[in-house]
Amino acid sequence: MRYTIPMMNCAIAVSFIVICVHLRESNEVEELRRLPPLGRSMRQEFFMKDDYIFLNHGSYGTYPRDVQKGLREYQERAERDPDLWFRKDLKPEHTKVREMLAEVINADAEDLVLVPNTTGGMNAIFRSLVFAAGERILHFNTVYGSMGSIIQYLVDYSNGAISKLVFNVTYPISNDVFLQQFETFLNETEDPEQPIRIALIDHITSVPGVVIPIERIIPLLKLRNITVVIDGAHAIGQVPIDVKALDPDYYITNCHKWLYAARGSAVLYVAKKHQPFVHPGFINAGYSQPAKLQDEFYWTGTMDFSPYMSIPAALQFRRDAGGEEMIMQYNHNLAYFGGKVLASAFKTEVLQYKNQIGSMVDVRLPVDNPDNPKLTNGWWVNEQLTKHPETFSPAYKHNGRWWVRVSAQIYNDLSDFEVCAKHFLAICNELNGSQNTTTDNDDNPNTESNVNSFAHVTLFKDN
Ligand SMILES: *[C@@H]1O[C@H](CO)[C@@H](O)[C@H](O)[C@H]1NC(C)=O
Ligand SMILES: *[C@@H]1O[C@H](CO)[C@@H](O)[C@H](O)[C@H]1NC(C)=O
Ligand SMILES: *[C@@H]1O[C@H](CO)[C@@H](O)[C@H](O)[C@H]1NC(C)=O
Ligand SMILES: *[C@@H]1O[C@H](CO)[C@@H](O)[C@H](O)[C@H]1NC(C)=O
Ligand SMILES: *[C@@H]1O[C@H](CO)[C@@H](O)[C@H](O)[C@H]1NC(C)=O
Ligand SMILES: *[C@@H]1O[C@H](CO)[C@@H](O)[C@H](O)[C@H]1NC(C)=O
Repeated sequence: MRYTIPMMNCAIAVSFIVICVHLRESNEVEELRRLPPLGRSMRQEFFMKDDYIFLNHGSYGTYPRDVQKGLREYQERAERDPDLWFRKDLKPEHTKVREMLAEVINADAEDLVLVPNTTGGMNAIFRSLVFAAGERILHFNTVYGSMGSIIQYLVDYSNGAISKLVFNVTYPISNDVFLQQFETFLNETEDPEQPIRIALIDHITSVPGVVIPIERIIPLLKLRNITVVIDGAHAIGQVPIDVKALDPDYYITNCHKWLYAARGSAVLYVAKKHQPFVHPGFINAGYSQPAKLQDEFYWTGTMDFSPYMSIPAALQFRRDAGGEEMIMQYNHNLAYFGGKVLASAFKTEVLQYKNQIGSMVDVRLPVDNPDNPKLTNGWWVNEQLTKHPETFSPAYKHNGRWWVRVSAQIYNDLSDFEVCAKHFLAICNELNGSQNTTTDNDDNPNTESNVNSFAHVTLFKDN
């Protein structure tokens, strides 16, 4: 990573204050001064084109230049001598990666396997289960599309033997109220004839991008003998994960989103008691009864293993950039203040309570007629990519209103959120039938001085 002299702009000021809040020892502060500043100057470590404001890390992620180097090194190594790579060198490298990830998420490396994506891992978990007649599968209405489909598939092909149970959550809602509603729901739907066999819970839902208090949900489920699967697709790199403390039955997370690894890398945790029963979604030569987790998941077919091998470079990059805590704090702070910038420009509201924000924030769009039939998720995609290509964030409807999910990353600062605000105001103004597509700073609460004033608000660490 190349270090650069910081430009003293607002976001850097914010990050520096945050850094200082965390440090007690002045020599630690000295050490921090030597770290690269997070924010705009980090863009050079990534590939985004200059005229594009990337505020959507949440959808596909993107990786730093250093990670691409790591990725290509392994690709070349494999091609230089495929037999040496696949038959001898791959396995120890693969083990090293599992061991590194085990440290990051506090799990035993032998309980972790690498899979290309969370959808694949989730298929392995769910399609390995043998259900008894009457059993139910629980998930939230905010479940990710692919995961909802896996459950629907199992129900459809069970010949009526099993069913699903959906808990509806409506945002904005505080964690306390949400947990109260969830516990009431569990109590009211309890039925010994139809036990809930397994529950799929997101660690951070995709849309809206809300951090779910799984540390409080998992005990409620375990108390009722419900197997718990955590979909942490967005979690590693965005929030700390402590598998041993959380103690779910299964946990899966993508390394190619917030951890900065190359696409096609995820890690699946399986509690020891379930390991004899879990097979990959595609059965391969490693199949045995009882299942041997490591043998079966190691080689699921010939593929390019280098996305897995990019994980060490991603972890190294993160250390060089200041470490896990600093990256997460920076992104959280930026999402929190960025959300305020957007909500004040839109004269609307942020969807999350502060302790529900990781590195993504969801803000209500100023749309006069949310039921306008032309408004679909696809309409917003098309409108942005074709007519307003300066930035992009996914818009979606929740509880009868349109919201946008915006991601904060170490290469962003608050000025990017100002661009995002203007971008969506222009689209919404056009949608409102007005020719008024530019915003005047005098009318706009999001002025430079207001933005800067956010930097003086008390800083964080509430969850
Ligand atoms: C996701 O992972 C599964 C295996 O776990 C694999 O079969 C599938 O091709 C992967 N999908 C993509 C898009 O890489
Ligand atoms: C949850 O919402 C869906 C869709 O609006 C609805 O069909 C379903 O009945 C609701 N479930 C419960 C338990 O209220
Ligand atoms: C749910 O039931 C348990 C056990 O009967 C009880 O302790 C708890 O207070 C109930 N929770 C709610 C929210 O009703
Ligand atoms: C708990 O669930 C498992 C299956 O997931 C079942 O075998 C066991 O009998 C259940 N235990 C109780 C006490 O209901
Ligand atoms: C669109 O119209 C609604 C209702 O009149 C208003 O609340 C909203 O602020 C308008 N949006 C923009 C971007 O002006
Ligand atoms: C133009 O849009 C801005 C921002 O929504 C709004 O404050 C202003 O009143 C609009 N002006 C007109 C003439 O519609």
